[in-house]
Amino acid sequence: MNKVTQLYEGKAKKVWTTEDPELLIVDYKDDATAGNGAKKGTIHDKGIINNRVTNHLMKMLEKEGVPTHLVEEISDRETIVKKVTIVPLEVIVRNIAAGSLSKRIGLPEGTPMKKTVLEYCYKDDALGDPMVNEYHILAMEWCTKEELDLIAKYALKVNEVLSAYLKEVNIQLIDFKLEFGKLSDGTIVLADEISPDTCRFWDTVTHEKLDKDRFRRDMGGEEDAYKEVMKRLMGE
Ligand code: TMP
Repeated sequence: MNKVTQLYEGKAKKVWTTEDPELLIVDYKDDATAGNGAKKGTIHDKGIINNRVTNHLMKMLEKEGVPTHLVEEISDRETIVKKVTIVPLEVIVRNIAAGSLSKRIGLPEGTPMKKTVLEYCYKDDALGDPMVNEYHILAMEWCTKEELDLIAKYALKVNEVLSAYLKEVNIQLIDFKLEFGKLSDGTIVLADEISPDTCRFWDTVTHEKLDKDRFRRDMGGEEDAYKEVMKRLMGE
């Protein structure tokens, strides 16, 4: 399968059409941004790590009953995925308070949530991806009630499966962001990526941050942290 034309270039990935109208090739970059593009940089080999980690986790999720867009990894940085229409929502799942939730409601980072928290943000860079609720989503017809219920069910299942799996390699899943898409037949599938760019991973013992917060917060050590996540998950 070959890349035909570049369909889109995002902050972390390029997406190409292929000879098959139902399939795309995703090409992961080392570019890193934070604060809706305000901070820009590179994390060496991030594209390789995020491609491989995402595919590893998506394969596991497929086996656990969460359908994904994954078809086949074709190189270190490239993966064939099913073409979807993205539901314009960032679906955020939180187990422990951190980041914008800590700021918004004044909970110190690291405070366990008594109940898993699900948030939705409307995907619009110009608006800064504002948080929205179910009423906004249905009123704007970004998806149907049935689709949103399924998205919420899948997001909680992803949390269950990943939290348990990561715990075995001494990683605490603090929070993460998912995106979902619709295949041409209307099926909802998990799309985008699951990586240290889109999750907060803390070492269970030391609470060391093993994710993009190292870059966002100018802590340094982001390359080693990304490598460490891949090593713990994939043994390399
Ligand atoms: P937040 O605390 O900044 O809202 O982030 C919550 C989680 O979602 C965190 O794991 C990082 C991830 N995330 C993204 O992947 N992309 C984004 O644009 C945002 C805002 C968060």
